[in-house]
Amino acid sequence: MRIHLKPGFSTESSPSLNYIIWGAKGHAMVVRDVLDNHYNCHLLAVFDNNTNLESPYSDVPLLYLREGFEEWFSSLNVPSPLGFVVAMGGARGKDRLFTAEYLTSFGLQPVSFIHPWTSVCSNVVFGDGIQIMAGACISAKVNIGDQTIVNHMANVDHECILGKGVHIAPGATLAGCVTVQDRVMIGAGATILPNLTIEEDAIVGAGAVVTKDVDAGSVVIGVPARRKDQ
Ligand SMILES: CC(C)(COP(=O)(O)OP(=O)(O)OC[C@H]1O[C@@H](n2cnc3c(N)ncnc32)[C@H](O)[C@@H]1OP(=O)(O)O)[C@@H](O)C(=O)NCCC(=O)NCCS
Repeated sequence: MRIHLKPGFSTESSPSLNYIIWGAKGHAMVVRDVLDNHYNCHLLAVFDNNTNLESPYSDVPLLYLREGFEEWFSSLNVPSPLGFVVAMGGARGKDRLFTAEYLTSFGLQPVSFIHPWTSVCSNVVFGDGIQIMAGACISAKVNIGDQTIVNHMANVDHECILGKGVHIAPGATLAGCVTVQDRVMIGAGATILPNLTIEEDAIVGAGAVVTKDVDAGSVVIGVPARRKDQ
């Protein structure tokens, strides 16, 4: 089952959705604000692998590691479905996908959400667990893979293809027909020119202007963008 929260979703006729967040840093605060304030969801607990962190919320417990999750889950008594969001931003697409697979194996449902203040064309195709933040514009015939984040004020123009575990950071712009492969991060304010391919696991630095295809696993910065190690 997939849970898709998008503008027009009626919280009045639907029961409140219980969910958890994995990842207890800044991105988690943004996620909760969207789900609780715009979609009437109810956050039960937050989890993180970093045992030095404190809960980002005064009213919700932070539990640690898979052991913490499994103990909590075994004593849980709430009606299904139970949703989850993996709130790990930056270049942590691999961790997002890995964590989503783990939580799905317990029967939790990945929650996809589209902030109500976005522009999203009706023919956009979404995977599971996608996060579309406030101010984002997603144009015609865009395809977005599982566990991909399109952050605040990012622009994804027509016919772009975003793979799984991608992160388009705030204010980035993808011109038309750009392909962004799995686990890529496009940094804040970067621009990708039309028809280019950013291969898997690459990182495009903040503010870069990408004028050529980017090789898998490489980091590019600057205007025009060049490999950071060259
Ligand atoms: C490209 C990036 C990944 C490199 O990170 P890093 O390997 O830790 O790089 P460092 O911070 O050690 O910087 C190394 C050098 O590159 C330069 N540099 C780093 N990022 C740069 C960027 N985006 N554009 C231009 N130069 C950059 C630094 O000034 C430094 O130069 P110096 O050696 O002359 O002092 C990172 O800087 C970046 O841009 N990340 C995107 C962050 C972002 O948008 N996050 C959004 C989260 S929502």
